[in-house]
Amino acid sequence: MFLKFLGHACFTLQIGDTALIIDPYLNDNPQAVVNSTEVKTNWVLVTHGHTDHFGDAIEIAKRNDATIITISEVARYSGLRGAKTHAMYIGGKHDFGKFSVKMTHALHGSSIGSNPIEYLGQPCGFLIFSEGKTIYYTGDTGIFGDMTLIARLHPIDLVILPIGDNYTMGPEDALEAVKLLNPKHVIPTHYNTWDIISQDPREFKNAVETETGIPVTILNPGDTFEL
Ligand code: NI
Ligand code: MN
Repeated sequence: MFLKFLGHACFTLQIGDTALIIDPYLNDNPQAVVNSTEVKTNWVLVTHGHTDHFGDAIEIAKRNDATIITISEVARYSGLRGAKTHAMYIGGKHDFGKFSVKMTHALHGSSIGSNPIEYLGQPCGFLIFSEGKTIYYTGDTGIFGDMTLIARLHPIDLVILPIGDNYTMGPEDALEAVKLLNPKHVIPTHYNTWDIISQDPREFKNAVETETGIPVTILNPGDTFEL
């Protein structure tokens, strides 16, 4: 399967002829390499309601007749706006055919809008199981000790985790998270979109590879990764 980074925290995953997009923030995303109208997908995974993740989910889902897989409140919000949805909650797993998803918790918030602000339940992360591999997309989160439990229950081939700091864990905590998760591979995300989350991913890569021996791949928007 092929993973592609579209900028900020948006990724696509191609599993044979099945396409997923995760946290499809594209049209307002300063890093985005494609416009939402170019996306062809079967599934849209959304970790939480914040604009830099929920993004263009409804437009993409409706145009593609794709289903949004997300937490119940975000599913309800999306369903009321005409999208097909599959609601889940933390700890739950579901088989979607070519892949399964288990929802994990994330230390973060989930809301949309500003006046008024609407709260959309808990934020989440995703364990994606396909072709014998396990990808852990942590979503926006701080570090938490139960990462050890997640990795014990589901040995991780690839973790995609934020390093931007301020809104999520920064590079020091992300290094500790890698030690808790002990994955086979690491891809950092959620940095350099704006000045406030500016980081040098090469420093993170060096620290992780020196301290753990686990390889880190830095993806620029548009880059792909095969696993
Ligand atoms: Ni967020
Ligand atoms: Mn975010």
